[in-house]
Amino acid sequence: MGTISSDKTDTSGCYMPVTAPPPSECPTRTFPRLASLIEYLLSVRSRASLGVLEGHLRGLTVCRDDLAPACAFGTRGYKRNTIARSEYFELLALCWRSGDATPIHDHKGSSCAFRVVEGTGTEIRFRTTDCGLVCPTEVHAMPPGYVCAAEDNDIHQVANLQAAGADLITLHIYSPPIRNMCTYQGPLARVNDPGPTCCAT
Ligand SMILES: [Fe+2]
Repeated sequence: MGTISSDKTDTSGCYMPVTAPPPSECPTRTFPRLASLIEYLLSVRSRASLGVLEGHLRGLTVCRDDLAPACAFGTRGYKRNTIARSEYFELLALCWRSGDATPIHDHKGSSCAFRVVEGTGTEIRFRTTDCGLVCPTEVHAMPPGYVCAAEDNDIHQVANLQAAGADLITLHIYSPPIRNMCTYQGPLARVNDPGPTCCAT
């Protein structure tokens, strides 16, 4: 899986996303297709409910061109591009190359929803087990227009498992901005190169 270029994990194992400052002083002008969503989010003065965020994302009509000023890709993992934010929300475009993936993570303290704008993403849901490891429970293919929602103790991993050259672009809302989510060890791994001495007997 790809790595994350701009985020870090502290010594407690909690994941602390680091986000660049907003690219625009006036995001409603820079992203007119998102104007009503941004105006709603700027009116929020507490944590938004997950259902409301989902509803806003389902009602959007948005394509890659609409997010062009925020469509920047990383070189070592997916890139988070801030469109607008306050202390109560963050709206971002995430850009993923083939093979990029989040860690397995939860969403402690935040309502998190996103819409697939271009490409097909994959979401893997997990549950905790008595031994402390997490176990996958569901896998969802997420085509363009798909809206995914998670909050608090929901554990998942999101990835671009499409073939090389196929990008994934997703539009995310976090309310409040996610500051400390925990990551978990899981079973996903790349297929090993068998090498010249490998044989199957
Ligand atoms: Fe998530």
